[in-house]
Amino acid sequence: MTESPLPKIKKIEDLRSRRWFGPADLRSFGHRSRAMQMGYSPEEWTGRPIIAIVNTWSDLQPCHSHFKQRVDDVKRGILMAGGFPVELPAISVSESFVKPTTMLYRNMLAMETEELLRSHPIDGAVLMGGCDKTTPALLLGATSMNIPAIFLPAGPMLRGNWGGKVLGSGSDSWKYWDELRAGKITDQDWLGVEGGIARSYGTCMTMGTASTMTAIAEAVGMVLPGGSSVPAADAGHIRLASESGRRIVDMVWEDLTPQKIQSKAAFGNAIAVAMAMGCSTNAIIHLIAMARRAGQEIGLEDFETYSRKVPVIGNVRPSGNTYLMEDFFYAGGIKGLMGNIKEHLDLTCLTVSGRTIGENIEGAKIYNDDVIRPTSNPIYGEGSLAVLKGNLAPDGCVIKPAAMDQKFLKHSGPAVVFDDYPSMKKAVDDESYPFTPDSVLVLRNAGPQGGPGMPEWGMLPMPKKLLKEGYRDMLRMSDARMSGTSYGACVLHVSPEAYIGGPLALLKTGDIVEVDVDARTINMVVSEEELARRRAEWQAPPVRYERGYGWMFTKHIQQANEGCDFDFLKTEFGRPVDEPVI
Ligand code: FES
Ligand code: MG
Repeated sequence: MTESPLPKIKKIEDLRSRRWFGPADLRSFGHRSRAMQMGYSPEEWTGRPIIAIVNTWSDLQPCHSHFKQRVDDVKRGILMAGGFPVELPAISVSESFVKPTTMLYRNMLAMETEELLRSHPIDGAVLMGGCDKTTPALLLGATSMNIPAIFLPAGPMLRGNWGGKVLGSGSDSWKYWDELRAGKITDQDWLGVEGGIARSYGTCMTMGTASTMTAIAEAVGMVLPGGSSVPAADAGHIRLASESGRRIVDMVWEDLTPQKIQSKAAFGNAIAVAMAMGCSTNAIIHLIAMARRAGQEIGLEDFETYSRKVPVIGNVRPSGNTYLMEDFFYAGGIKGLMGNIKEHLDLTCLTVSGRTIGENIEGAKIYNDDVIRPTSNPIYGEGSLAVLKGNLAPDGCVIKPAAMDQKFLKHSGPAVVFDDYPSMKKAVDDESYPFTPDSVLVLRNAGPQGGPGMPEWGMLPMPKKLLKEGYRDMLRMSDARMSGTSYGACVLHVSPEAYIGGPLALLKTGDIVEVDVDARTINMVVSEEELARRRAEWQAPPVRYERGYGWMFTKHIQQANEGCDFDFLKTEFGRPVDEPVI
């Protein structure tokens, strides 16, 4: 990496950690003697930036299993550059195992990150994450804390493989599950898919939430150039780890904080890249939250604006139909992609490299223009994500036209409404249930408070009856999210959610739902008077959590269109938190 041109403005006396180790008093005596208890000599930390490595490794986090070793590569980099590394473990928020949904814990990791950095003698941080919620969570916390921080993405896992077929995370689970339910593959085949779909450590290798969010982290300036595309199992990933360690030490001397990097224009770049990648719908929620933490206001309308002008050029599943993240890396990666959408980027935005986005992507090459397409030959022209509004979703909802059967872009059909997941699941498995191809399958009470935590249930399962008749898509609607690896005509994030009395709560089975993606509208054909009558009758569903974290979550979580942050975590909520003084 080329040297950062930024001046080193901090002096040893300015280091935050000096407050712990510098003074000739009893408290500092305690800190020093306890550091020596661990075998460190004062020469090893004195006058050096102390760098936290916030590590989201755990034995139940397969996407980060290499972090156990990779942290040593980060430490090597930090030591080489004259810093003092300390590893601080944080909750791993494993998408693969956490129930009811990792989204319940994004804000917990954000809080943990902020408080880990605040309460310890830390001058800068390397944030190790990548599995879906970990990326926004680590960045949210580091942004509110606002000390120099660099994000190290876990990197995507290798392509899946079964019987000579390439398998993509998530997407092929849904696909082959439907094939199994339709009787097209055997149980033995299904076991083959199970064993072959995740072959190495690293994050999902489709353009799911993980790859979307790490690309966004890079586009917003928080990852070293090209870092978000490097596969986890590539030796280049080890080098990226040590380079991130070397770089953070200089970032401390330069006082290059997240708030200096994450400008309004940087978030514009992030949205543009998200659109060009054919991003996960989850990106919308996380980016709104991230921007607000950085003091920048972005909303659903910004996604709509960029979606209309930036085409999808990253031909990676599920928006694309062939390639995966490994192919994307070989084809030129994120730098190549950004090079192709330069006209939509603000190239002057500063990044963790100390250089601008424009400088970072200078000379970027494309090695396969079927994987990273020119804008003249996109895989989806415009509107890969669309924000719809209407009497069903006054505060908006989201659909992903790039990954659905195009015949549902304009649709009118009778709603089949379920209040909870188990009753919906029972009905879709019941072949005598009267679903028709034009039915609109609806699940509600699955939003931020109702889920709670807004689980990824939004790709509602296709009714078995329709699958057997040969149908593979139908219009579905919920206040839930869906996995970034999912696909189909799924209306998501309906806001306000049904659980708090949003109009979705008033919809009844048999009501006609009209969706017009071109016009960006979604409505139920029910008169105002009838809706008023139903509203008067509506009763709030029972409270899910009466104690603990879930209780706090339900009290403070904001709606999807506001980024699902806790109200009290917003950086500008109240007076800034004092630094520890004694
Ligand atoms: Fe971790 Fe998909 S399960 S990235
Ligand atoms: Mg996911």
